[in-house]
Amino acid sequence: MADVFISRRIFRETIEKLEESGHRVEVNDSSRILPKGELIEKIKGKSGLICLLNDKIDTEVLDSNRDLRVISNVAVGYDNIDVGAATERGVMVTNTPGVLTETTADFTFALLISAARRIPEADRHSRKGEFEEWELMQPHLGVDVYGKTLGIVGMGRIGRAVARRSKGFGMRVLYHDARRDEEAEGELGAKFTSFDELLRESDFVSIHVPLTKETKGMLGAKEFEKMKTSAILVNAARGGIVDEDALVEALKRGKILGAAIDTHQMEPRVHPELAKMEKHVVLAPHIASASRDTRLKMALMAAENIIVGLKGERPPNLVNPEVIPK
Ligand code: GLV
Repeated sequence: MADVFISRRIFRETIEKLEESGHRVEVNDSSRILPKGELIEKIKGKSGLICLLNDKIDTEVLDSNRDLRVISNVAVGYDNIDVGAATERGVMVTNTPGVLTETTADFTFALLISAARRIPEADRHSRKGEFEEWELMQPHLGVDVYGKTLGIVGMGRIGRAVARRSKGFGMRVLYHDARRDEEAEGELGAKFTSFDELLRESDFVSIHVPLTKETKGMLGAKEFEKMKTSAILVNAARGGIVDEDALVEALKRGKILGAAIDTHQMEPRVHPELAKMEKHVVLAPHIASASRDTRLKMALMAAENIIVGLKGERPPNLVNPEVIPK
């Protein structure tokens, strides 16, 4: 029996699962992110923490509680946690990969098509009663998706799932990653390229890398300069990967055609200039994995990670295996 704190409102099934395993659970049953001081107070004496991607778990939080043994992030990305510091303190960190792959890839594709075909603009237009007559030169002429070139930055699980969907759209797939993925090349006919070549040749550039020191600001003014003026950028990975001031400038100056942004640099703040842009610009509030089924799977997976970790065993989705003594 151990004490577990859950930092935010969560599916009842998650709490039940933890309680059935004999744990005592305390939940911040609201949608309010706890300020650091309150989080520190709440986790006092707790061995397990289930947190979300916008809970910042830094050295101060870690040092406030030397009883903490497992931090279970309900997200595949874990850039909100200082994993190195957790490892030094012997704390396991886990995430929720796999269960959200297809849902996130579906949404990435929806963003891509929405920006290309200007669906949100057309929706707003129709609701305002502005649809007068069908005409050849409609006000929402978009760009085609079928047969175009898709550049995938980061051929991990989600990148591959997006590439699979692109096959139904007859797309040519380029990808850039730290490593070559021969399976994806074979199965999907994806071509490995340099980052520069991908930027130069793609009609759609879709980001699927985690946010790290290396990927922070990876898409900035220099990169937009290299892209086609007809290109559309899709970001459902992490906001910090794109320099949004540079993106706004690139859109204003016609360096690229459009952008579909689910993850924002200053979340939950949306770049104010981006929010004013309409044509080929689609914005969403970080919801790529947000189907009910998937979010429930993520929450249950987070509970399973805590349960196994608190038994002193290796959780299924441990991101810092170095923490386990050999
Ligand atoms: C969502 O952004 C996640 O990392 O799961």
